[in-house]
Amino acid sequence: MTDEHPTRHWRTRLVHPRVAASQDFRALVPAIHRGSTVLFERVAEARDDWRGEGYSYGLYGTPTTRELALRIADLEGARAGFVVPGGQAAIALIYLAFCRAGDHALLPETAYGPNRELADELLAGLGITVETYDPLIGSGIAALIRRNTRLIWCESPGTITMEVQDVPAIVATAHAAGVPVALDNTYAAGVLFDAFALGVDVSMQALTKYVGGHSDILLGTVSVGTAEAQERIGATHRLLGMAVSPDDCALALRGLETLAVRLDRLEKTTLEVAHWLKARPEVALVLHPALPDCPGHEIWRRDFTGSASVFSVVFEPGWDTQRVTDFVEALRLFRLGFSWGGTHSLAMAYPPLPRTQRGYDGRIVRLNVGLEEPADLIADLEQALKQVA
Ligand SMILES: Cc1ncc(COP(=O)(O)O)c(C=O)c1O
Repeated sequence: MTDEHPTRHWRTRLVHPRVAASQDFRALVPAIHRGSTVLFERVAEARDDWRGEGYSYGLYGTPTTRELALRIADLEGARAGFVVPGGQAAIALIYLAFCRAGDHALLPETAYGPNRELADELLAGLGITVETYDPLIGSGIAALIRRNTRLIWCESPGTITMEVQDVPAIVATAHAAGVPVALDNTYAAGVLFDAFALGVDVSMQALTKYVGGHSDILLGTVSVGTAEAQERIGATHRLLGMAVSPDDCALALRGLETLAVRLDRLEKTTLEVAHWLKARPEVALVLHPALPDCPGHEIWRRDFTGSASVFSVVFEPGWDTQRVTDFVEALRLFRLGFSWGGTHSLAMAYPPLPRTQRGYDGRIVRLNVGLEEPADLIADLEQALKQVA
């Protein structure tokens, strides 16, 4: 220990310690860096710059947040990525980066509910019109593109009703009209659907689901494929102050290391459960992208390299809302709750969905399959079906 300042008071030494541990520590996992202030040696070097390679303020990146952003962007084949406080924050960031008063955006009517609520309850008041479209529209989207359309959203498969979209056809049509396409790629965990190879301009994920993988963080990413999108998203990210916790980023980095094994296992178990349900007389439709009942199944076969853990079941027309409710409440291993992508199996019943098509009259249940043994999950579904028979 060298003591250059033996006379300094202990109060001063609390914030300017005269000892320091060696930083020469080589672990397998990235360090968790906390920090708002970034220190500079000279006034001339001090800057407030989100674009720079170096660090200038915690909001624009720490080694931990940048490590996560870089790894996700690399996995997705993106030009750059930004970490945000959650999937919904990612959605808001994309709208605010691309749309101004007087602009028009297109959103599949099957999009994640709060995406549509953001449009109706907040963006409408800012003079931004968000029009919904049939997710199966494909290149027919050309008829909806207006002179002032600034953004087209895709979300594939759709929330609850699982329609798989023809994203390449929508991208081709949008680009012909000079409109960028944003994709909610959460279902594919950024890896089962190659968004940037298929032409998408901006891709977002709720890392809350598969990357986090354990239902213990809320985090999101926005990845960009073009310099223009990078500039828009980066500048807006800074202005909105979308800071994230390095601890949450560290959990997401840990989640990435086991993402492949979890996805493999989840896909296998989910398919087993979905096929079992398909053979049940109570079930009218199994809306799983890998099963032919699912609208857009052929597109899933063409564009995806796998399926994930969330899918829906539509019961026979004789089922009313009470029976569907009784069924989900009779489940024991499947717990009642929103979200998906974690280790636990979940179920949720939905009222008739506010959609022009495929609203399913309150006969729909969404399941998220976890890491439990498939036979036990099937036994749970079977006992619940028996209870409401
Ligand atoms: C498809 C989809 N996108 C975005 C989100 C929002 O993610 P978060 O809960 O991290 O805000 C969700 C959450 O359920 C989702 O299902």
